[in-house]
Amino acid sequence: MTTRSALTAHNLVKTYGTAGVLTPALAGVSLTVGPGGSLAVMGPSGSGKTTLLHCLAGVLAPISGQVLWAGQDLTALSETARTGLRRTDFGFVFQSGQLLPELPADENAALPLMLAGVGRAEATDIARRWLAYLGLAGMEGRRPGELSGGQAQRVAIARALVGSPGVVFADEPTGALDQQTGYEVLQVLTEATRATGAALVIVTHDPQVAAWCSRTVHMRDGRVVADTADGAAPAGLAAPPGVPHPGGVSTPPQEPPSNAPAGGPTQGEGSWPAQATPSWTAPMHTPVVPR
Ligand SMILES: Nc1ncnc2c1ncn2[C@@H]1O[C@H](COP(=O)(O)OP(=O)(O)O)[C@@H](O)[C@H]1O
Ligand SMILES: [Mg+2]
Repeated sequence: MTTRSALTAHNLVKTYGTAGVLTPALAGVSLTVGPGGSLAVMGPSGSGKTTLLHCLAGVLAPISGQVLWAGQDLTALSETARTGLRRTDFGFVFQSGQLLPELPADENAALPLMLAGVGRAEATDIARRWLAYLGLAGMEGRRPGELSGGQAQRVAIARALVGSPGVVFADEPTGALDQQTGYEVLQVLTEATRATGAALVIVTHDPQVAAWCSRTVHMRDGRVVADTADGAAPAGLAAPPGVPHPGGVSTPPQEPPSNAPAGGPTQGEGSWPAQATPSWTAPMHTPVVPR
């Protein structure tokens, strides 16, 4: 079941390399993502976005600072404990899905469940329900090479969500897609994540994508140089006309269909593609991973 907790970073400092050749990557970053909230991380290449994501997710240990999640300081845990926590509490979506090319979509999406000890039949059954929910019914048996870029990213989203994570981390998840496909994928990602009650931390270069999130931080040289939580949104971050803001929901619904986006982004005018609608009317059973 999804763990509801704030994810908080205190004064994260991270440097790569060894004495002599040191590359500063994070120079004291502090922030909080509330339970079910969404954070967009923006900034130029090399500003520390990926490093921040990896520290927040317990992939990397910072040199100093704390990452607090569900009553624990991730930076104080052993590598083994952090690996276990990542599997149970977090989901990940990368720029290109990093799907295993030889596995069909359902088995790719089922992998985290199988790693957590769920039997293959049950895991693929849960994964297939997620794939259908994300608009991929009928494509369960396709290998990544037989899917479009947007479809492959939906498989990656299913894989990130099957374990009912508390936080989904996405590092430029639409960076390899054209803009319209990217919006469709982002819409599916933000809505599905919100419907499960998970928080979302997303690195993006797209101000419109950031506008869907409840909070945006801009990074430069390893620091947060602008934060919408501190005041007005930076110019250019307005949501498209007629498109409701999917971010900012701190108490997401238990039943995604009751939160069907009637009047939501899929119904909006403007740049939103109609095809992005997930199958909200399908029965939805949020899978629970045995711990
Ligand atoms: N594994 C690494 N080894 C050495 N330097 C790295 C490594 N990863 C990132 N860096 C450096 O750390 C800084 C921040 O990188 P990164 O977090 O990847 O930024 P962004 O995701 O914003 O492009 C950059 O100067 C980058 O070159
Ligand atoms: Mg990066």
